[in-house]
Amino acid sequence: MAERNALSLGITSRNYLFCLFTIVSILFILSWFFVLRSTGRPNFIDHNLLPNSKFLATSDNRGSATHSQNEVEPSIGNRSILVDAEEQEEETSQENAKTDVKCNTNDIVLLAQQKENKVVLKVFMYDLPPEFHFGLLDWKAQGGSVWPDIRSKIPDYPGGLNLQHSIEYWLTLDLLASELPDAPNAPRSAIRVHNSSDADIIFVPFFSSLCYNRYSKADPHQRKSMNKLQQEKLVRFLTAQKEWKRSRGRDHLIVAHHPNSLLDARMKLWRAMFILSDFGRYPPNIANVDKDVIAPYKHVIGSNVNDSPDFDSRPTLLYFQGAIYRKDGGYIRQELFYLLKGEQDVHFAFGSVQKDGIKKATQGMHSSKFCLNIAGDTPSSNRLFDAIASRCVPVIISDDIELPYEDVLDYSQFCVFVRSSDALKEKFLINLIRNIGKDEWIRMWQKLKEVENFYEFQYPSKEGDAVQMIWQAVSRKVPAIRLKLNKYRRFSSYAVRSDRGVRSVPSPNNFW
Ligand SMILES: *[C@@H]1O[C@H](CO)[C@@H](O)[C@H](O)[C@H]1NC(C)=O
Repeated sequence: MAERNALSLGITSRNYLFCLFTIVSILFILSWFFVLRSTGRPNFIDHNLLPNSKFLATSDNRGSATHSQNEVEPSIGNRSILVDAEEQEEETSQENAKTDVKCNTNDIVLLAQQKENKVVLKVFMYDLPPEFHFGLLDWKAQGGSVWPDIRSKIPDYPGGLNLQHSIEYWLTLDLLASELPDAPNAPRSAIRVHNSSDADIIFVPFFSSLCYNRYSKADPHQRKSMNKLQQEKLVRFLTAQKEWKRSRGRDHLIVAHHPNSLLDARMKLWRAMFILSDFGRYPPNIANVDKDVIAPYKHVIGSNVNDSPDFDSRPTLLYFQGAIYRKDGGYIRQELFYLLKGEQDVHFAFGSVQKDGIKKATQGMHSSKFCLNIAGDTPSSNRLFDAIASRCVPVIISDDIELPYEDVLDYSQFCVFVRSSDALKEKFLINLIRNIGKDEWIRMWQKLKEVENFYEFQYPSKEGDAVQMIWQAVSRKVPAIRLKLNKYRRFSSYAVRSDRGVRSVPSPNNFW
């Protein structure tokens, strides 16, 4: 018995020691957490390049000294599907405390930067042979010129669904336009420079999405498709340039918006910054949200220009039209179909948008209050941008989606996010949507109206449209590129580098 007691005593004292140890560890971790928080992020860098939009300005002020606006305007982002309400409250109060202390210094930085006006990205663009860009649009080069004379005629990009990935075309046109003597006087976010030593970024004007769309099917007489051959040529061209050799591509910008474009070359060009629609088909060491830029799709559904915020004039509550996929995404689409089948005011139909389908989908989205975006075979689709253009509040069910400009834009103000696991619960989605009242919907509609210009591609580009927003997103990555380059150069001036040639696969977490 005595032995037993001693044993249990030993156990309790060991338990006691263990508890003490756990408490001390937790306290230690917490104290680290607070130390890290109080040092804060150097967020003045973000202020520097914030687009000059009223909406962005207000969203950025959230949590700063002027949070009176926050109190008047209940944030849509507080909905509990996004973050636990408690968690969020704690976070914002901490944020407030932090910014209250720091706001003075921030204001100074902001003022100093406003005086300098805005930062214009300096872009060096390779004079790639036309077969890589406008030649793909059947434009014929005249007299050895590489670029069309955009003052006389701009080659057309093919229409229909090709257009959704036409980002490459609008960015290239904007750079060409920046050189016109009578350049449209819209405030530019990027200009073309001809001395690559002066450039912030080196742009590769390859129309990779168009090349994929047009030439990915191999000619029966050839072993490789022209799309593959063109990519091989591109790699050969790039790796021979002095600009590429200088940085091994770290300061290069390559557009690969179609998820299947550049499938072959990207394994050799992975150090460059990519402009993508999402990361669905990319391993994280080839492309990731730190290194690359997410661009919107060009919407195929017409803008809802003369629309008023009339909740009751939109008869459909929730709209979805899309393809069925057999893969992961398809499962959730089918489950949702069964969950929503009985609801009178829900339109849920399968079938992808074809020619006359676009007209139908336009009508459908323009007359719906909410539009569903469910992950398909890739996390993103142009449906989200169709919804924004239709001012149909997007309901996003795609856990891995990455959104354009999210470092400066709070999507929770005009989108509803639902986790896939929640969406599959009986009645969860429909109850959530039905509980969003008229006032809240109108607030979101108004935000949609404020942001819709960020997703417009056009020539000439206008202030705050997608072209300018993408250049600004690239600008925000330039300091990180400089850091990478300077680190890379540490030993390069007097040592022979051992990693010669193109490594085909980078090691994880190593982008230097
Ligand atoms: C390009 O710029 C660098 C540095 O600004 C300068 O040294 C060089 O001479 C310039 N090259 C040409 C061709 O103007």
